[in-house]
Amino acid sequence: MSQKANLKNSGYLRVKNIDKSFGSFRALKNVSFQADRGELISVLGPSGCGKTTLLRVVAGLEKQDSGEVFVGDRDLSNYPISKRNVGIVFQSYALFPNLTARQNIAYGLKTRKLKKSEIDRKVDALLQLTGLKGLGRRYPAQLSGGQQQRVALSRAIAVSPDILLLDEPLSALDAKVRVMLRLEIRQLQQRLGVTTIMVTHDQEEALTMADRILVMDQGKLVQEGTPHEIYEHPATPFVASFIGSMNFIGNAVKQDQGVYKVGEHILHVSGENGSAQIKEQSGAILAIRPENVMILPNEEGRANVIKAQVEAIEYRGAMFRVGLKLPLGGDTKVLIESDMPSEKISRLNISENMVIPVHFPTDRLRVYQA
Ligand SMILES: Nc1ncnc2c1ncn2[C@@H]1O[C@H](COP(=O)(O)OP(=O)(O)OP(=O)(O)O)[C@@H](O)[C@H]1O
Ligand SMILES: [Mg+2]
Repeated sequence: MSQKANLKNSGYLRVKNIDKSFGSFRALKNVSFQADRGELISVLGPSGCGKTTLLRVVAGLEKQDSGEVFVGDRDLSNYPISKRNVGIVFQSYALFPNLTARQNIAYGLKTRKLKKSEIDRKVDALLQLTGLKGLGRRYPAQLSGGQQQRVALSRAIAVSPDILLLDEPLSALDAKVRVMLRLEIRQLQQRLGVTTIMVTHDQEEALTMADRILVMDQGKLVQEGTPHEIYEHPATPFVASFIGSMNFIGNAVKQDQGVYKVGEHILHVSGENGSAQIKEQSGAILAIRPENVMILPNEEGRANVIKAQVEAIEYRGAMFRVGLKLPLGGDTKVLIESDMPSEKISRLNISENMVIPVHFPTDRLRVYQA
């Protein structure tokens, strides 16, 4: 067993306290995270939040102002990219246009001075592995976007990198190809067991592909967790609305543990939902995802039920999104959304302007400090 394989799995890639400024603009603010060997970590966040900069720092393409990057027991903080053994795939294909697919894939192997026969064998295996068999002699301009990204991926993994870095590798592709390739990349990544950091601003991509997600906002890491944790327990309203849809009901006041006054209504909140951190009599924001807002025609008077008026009904294929106007006392109304299966909409005869009881399950409500 090699020395590398002996290292304990936990924290194979360790990124510590990275700070990076461009002039007076602080692009990364004390960013730290770890990735276990073989993990796929997705970095998710809005445009300009620092995702590419973070990836470039890990790659050694950008020098951090402070902080460290470790892989295994090696401190790579001051190494150039050529000494880090990372593979990179960028958003724009970045293939050499004057080289064929084969030659592009072989590029890194040639610089490692492998024998020609060995390079040929490796390239053949990679073409096969990434579904490019028969296309090796084509130039990038003769390949589709999806095929070009397969070449870029093959080139990146050809050198058996310790870390694979993917910067929005699928964003230039159309929706169908994207969905297919993300599955292929994930399977390949798991087969190779290569520790991977994938930047995306596509939440669905992150939720479906990643072992863990890092959510960034304005140069800071704001939450880290499994896709399930991030979706079910978003740490801040920003994370909640960035990943999936979230309804917010502001101007809530905490009465007691798990009891909130919203206008003239009382809503109960149970479970792991952020309520413990809110001081009594202080302002709070209640949040609930559209798929958890229930329309229940016969449940008037029950706890956590408020009557609302149907504002709009929007067809979304598999379901309908129903806009609801929630009266919160006086003239205050808040607009929320509920996702309902088509079948239920027709069974309940739901139509615009109808006034219906809406149920907020106690274990589905979350609370944030106002
Ligand atoms: N070389 C540079 N010089 C000056 N500012 C830069 C440089 N590179 C990045 N920035 C700035 O740093 C911030 C973060 O950029 P970065 O490219 O990391 O964002 P991003 O999260 O990858 O965004 P996107 O989703 O649009 O790709 C941006 O405000 C950007 O303008
Ligand atoms: Mg970017």
